Amino acid sequence: MAGCPCLSLPGLLVLLTAASITHGQSCPQRCDCISHQRAVMCQNKRLGSIPAGIPADTRLLDLSCNSLRWVEYNELATLSRLEELDLSENLISVLEPNAFSSLLNLRVLRLRANQLKLVPMGAFSRLTNLTTLDLSGNKLVILLDFTFQDLRNLRNLEVGDNDLVYISNKAFLGLVGLRELTIERCNLTSITGQSLSYLRGLVTLRLRYLSISSLEEQNFRKLGGLRALEIDHWPFLEYISPHSFQGLNLSWLSITNTNISTVPTGALRNLIHLASLNLSYNPISVLESWALRDLVRLKELHLVGTNLISVQPYGLGGLQQIRLLNLSNNGLVTLEEGSFHSVNTLETLRVDGNPLSCDCRLLWILQRRKTLNFNGKSPVCSTPLEVRGKALSTFSDSALFDHFTCQRPKIRNRKLQQMTAREGQVVSFVCRADGDPTPVIFWISPQRRRITTKSTGRIIVLPEGTLEIRYAQVMDSGTYICIASNAGGNDTYFATLTVSGLPLDGALAANRTYYVGDLNDTNLNDTRVFLKFTLDLKTILVSTAMGCIMFLGVVLFCFILLFVWSRGRGQHKNNFSVEYSFRKVDGPAASGGQGGARKFNMKMI
Ligand SMILES: *[C@@H]1O[C@H](CO)[C@@H](O)[C@H](O)[C@H]1NC(C)=O
Ligand SMILES: *[C@@H]1O[C@H](CO)[C@@H](O)[C@H](O)[C@H]1NC(C)=O
Ligand SMILES: *[C@@H]1O[C@H](CO)[C@@H](O)[C@H](O)[C@H]1NC(C)=O
Ligand SMILES: *[C@@H]1O[C@H](CO)[C@@H](O)[C@H](O)[C@H]1NC(C)=O
Ligand SMILES: *[C@@H]1O[C@H](CO)[C@@H](O)[C@H](O)[C@H]1NC(C)=O
Ligand SMILES: *[C@@H]1O[C@H](CO)[C@@H](O)[C@H](O)[C@H]1NC(C)=O
Ligand SMILES: *[C@@H]1O[C@H](CO)[C@@H](O)[C@H](O)[C@H]1NC(C)=O
Ligand SMILES: *[C@@H]1O[C@H](CO)[C@@H](O)[C@H](O)[C@H]1NC(C)=O
Ligand SMILES: *[C@@H]1O[C@H](CO)[C@@H](O)[C@H](O)[C@H]1NC(C)=O
Ligand SMILES: *[C@@H]1O[C@H](CO)[C@@H](O)[C@H](O)[C@H]1NC(C)=O
Repeated sequence: MAGCPCLSLPGLLVLLTAASITHGQSCPQRCDCISHQRAVMCQNKRLGSIPAGIPADTRLLDLSCNSLRWVEYNELATLSRLEELDLSENLISVLEPNAFSSLLNLRVLRLRANQLKLVPMGAFSRLTNLTTLDLSGNKLVILLDFTFQDLRNLRNLEVGDNDLVYISNKAFLGLVGLRELTIERCNLTSITGQSLSYLRGLVTLRLRYLSISSLEEQNFRKLGGLRALEIDHWPFLEYISPHSFQGLNLSWLSITNTNISTVPTGALRNLIHLASLNLSYNPISVLESWALRDLVRLKELHLVGTNLISVQPYGLGGLQQIRLLNLSNNGLVTLEEGSFHSVNTLETLRVDGNPLSCDCRLLWILQRRKTLNFNGKSPVCSTPLEVRGKALSTFSDSALFDHFTCQRPKIRNRKLQQMTAREGQVVSFVCRADGDPTPVIFWISPQRRRITTKSTGRIIVLPEGTLEIRYAQVMDSGTYICIASNAGGNDTYFATLTVSGLPLDGALAANRTYYVGDLNDTNLNDTRVFLKFTLDLKTILVSTAMGCIMFLGVVLFCFILLFVWSRGRGQHKNNFSVEYSFRKVDGPAASGGQGGARKFNMKMI
C-alpha cells in the first residue's frame, strides 16, 4: 500500500528493538514477534489475509497497513487471550456478524481507515471487556440500533471521519461505560437527544465539523455526568436556544468556529460549575454587559479571533474567579478595568494582536505589568503615535504618566441656551466636546430619560452629539442636559426649551432656519444652537386672500340685509351687530396671531 502513513516509522521501531525480537517457530511468516510481550507485529507486510500460525497466547496483534478485505470468525477463533487488535488502514469492507465474538479479553479494537459501510448487528457481540473501539475514517453512513449493545465497558469510541448521515435512536444503547465520544466530519444534520440519552456515563463529548444548524431544546438533558463539551466547526450554527444545555453540569465548554454572533447568555445560565469557556473564532463583535453573569466559577475565558471590538462595562461582570483571559487577535482599542468584576483575580492576560490605544484606560494593565502573566506576548500600543509598536511590559515607571493619560471632556461654547419653539417644529441643540479619548455624548431629558445615539423615536441624538427633537410638543419643554464623558471624566451643559402650544400652519412649508438667542451669522460656528421652523409664502397669500373674500362677502351680506330692512316697515331698531370669525393667519409678522371672533357694530342712521 503506497502512501500508507504508518509505512516507515513503525518498521524503524521494530528494527531498533531487533534485539528483543525472536523469530521462533510459533511466529507467522513475514511477521515479527516480541515474545516477552506476546506481541505479533505484522504491519505493512502486504498481507491479503490474516496469517496462519499466530500463537494462541498472543496478547497484541498488529495487522495495520495491509490489504485485508474481510475478517472472519474462524481466523481469530483461537486467539481468546488477545487484548489488543489493530486492523487499521486495511481494505476491510465486510465484518462477519460474530467476527470478534471469541475475543473475550479484547480491550482495544482498531478498525480505523477501512472501507466499512455498515457494521452488522452483532459484529461486536460479547466484547464485554472492550474499552476502546476506533471506527473512524470508514464509510459508515448509518449507525444501526443495538450496534454496540454488549460493549458495557467501552470507554472510548471513535466514529469520526465517516459519511454518517444518521445515528439511529438506539444506536448507543448499552454503552453505559462510555466516557468519551467524538463525532466529527460527518454529514449529520442533527443529533437527537434520545440517541445521546443512553450515554449515561459520558464525561467528554466532542462534536466537530458538522453541518448541524441548531441544537434541539434539551439536546443533552440526560447527560448529567458530562463535564466537557466541544462544539467545533459548525458553520451553520447561528443560534443556541436558552434551553439547549439544560440538564448539563459542565466544567469545560468550547463552542468555536461557528456562526453565533452573540454570547449565548441564556444557555450558559445553568452552567454554574463551568471553569473554562472557549468561544474563539465566532463572529462575536461585542461582549455585552453581564453576558457571562452566571458563570461565578469561571476561571478561563478564551475569545480569540472573534473580531471583538468592544467589551462593554461589566462585560466580564459576574466572573468572580477569572484567572485567565485570552482576547488575542481581536479589534479591541481598549479593555477597561470597569469591564471586570474585579481585576484582582486575574493572573494571565492575552490582549496582543489588538489595535490598543495606550491612554488612561490601560493604566490598570500597566500598573500590573510586572505581576500579570502575558503568556509571552505583551500587549503592544497602536496609538498614540509616539509609543506605537511599544510593548506595555517595556515601559519604565517614569514614562508611565507621560503617555497613559486621558484628557477630560470639555464642551465647546458653554453659553446657556434658552429657546422657544412652537408645536410641530424641529429643534436642535448642538453639543460638541473635545477630549481624549473621544468623548461619548448623551443627553438627559427633562423627564430624566437618557437619550443616546442609540435612542429611537421623536427625540434622538445625532452621531456627532446634536440633540434633535422632531415635532416638538408642549411636554418637551424643560431643561436638557448634555453629558460628554470619557475615561478621563465628564462635562455637562444645560439648555432649556419652551414649546408653545400653537401649531404651525402649512403642510407644503418651505424650510427656513431661524437662529435664536444672541446669535448672528458671525458666531454661528461656536454655538450652533438653532431652531428651525417651516413657512410658506403661498400659504400666507392664500390665507390672506380667503380672509379678504370672506370680509367682502360679509359686507355684501350686510348691505343686502340693510336693503331688506330699509324696505320693511314697522321696524324701530336703529342698530344691529354682525359677528363673524376671521380666519387666523400665521407668519413671522403675525406673531400675535390672536385671530379669534371679531365683532362689528353698525349703527343705522
Ligand atoms: C475481562 O477481563 C478479565 C481480566 O482482566 C477477565 O477476568 C474476565 O473474565 C473478562 N471478561 C470476560 C467477559 O471475559
Ligand atoms: C457530505 O455530503 C456531500 C454532498 O452532499 C459530499 O460531497 C461530502 O463528501 C459529504 N461529506 C462527508 C464527510 O461525507
Ligand atoms: C453566517 O452568518 C452570516 C450573517 O449572519 C451569513 O451571511 C452567512 O451566510 C452565515 N454563514 C454560514 C456558513 O451560514
Ligand atoms: C456539578 O459538578 C461539580 C463539579 O464540577 C460538582 O461539584 C457538583 O456536585 C455537580 N452538581 C451536580 C448537581 O451534579
Ligand atoms: C479554543 O478553541 C480554538 C479553536 O477550536 C483552539 O484553537 C484553542 O486551542 C482553544 N483554546 C483552548 C485553551 O483550548
Ligand atoms: C491565547 O490564544 C492564542 C491564539 O490562539 C494562543 O496561541 C495562546 O496559546 C492562548 N493562550 C492561552 C494562555 O490560552
Ligand atoms: C461624572 O463624573 C463624576 C466625577 O467626576 C462622577 O461622579 C459622575 O458619576 C460622572 N457622571 C457620569 C454620567 O458619568
Ligand atoms: C425641509 O428640510 C428637510 C431636511 O432638513 C427635508 O428633508 C425636507 O424635505 C424639507 N422640506 C421641504 C418642504 O422642503
Ligand atoms: C454678531 O455678534 C458679534 C458678537 O457676538 C458682534 O460683534 C457683531 O457685531 C454681530 N453682528 C451683527 C450683524 O449683529
Ligand atoms: C467657523 O469654523 C471654520 C472651520 O470650522 C473656521 O475656519 C471659521 O473661522 C469659523 N468662524 C468663526 C466665526 O468662528
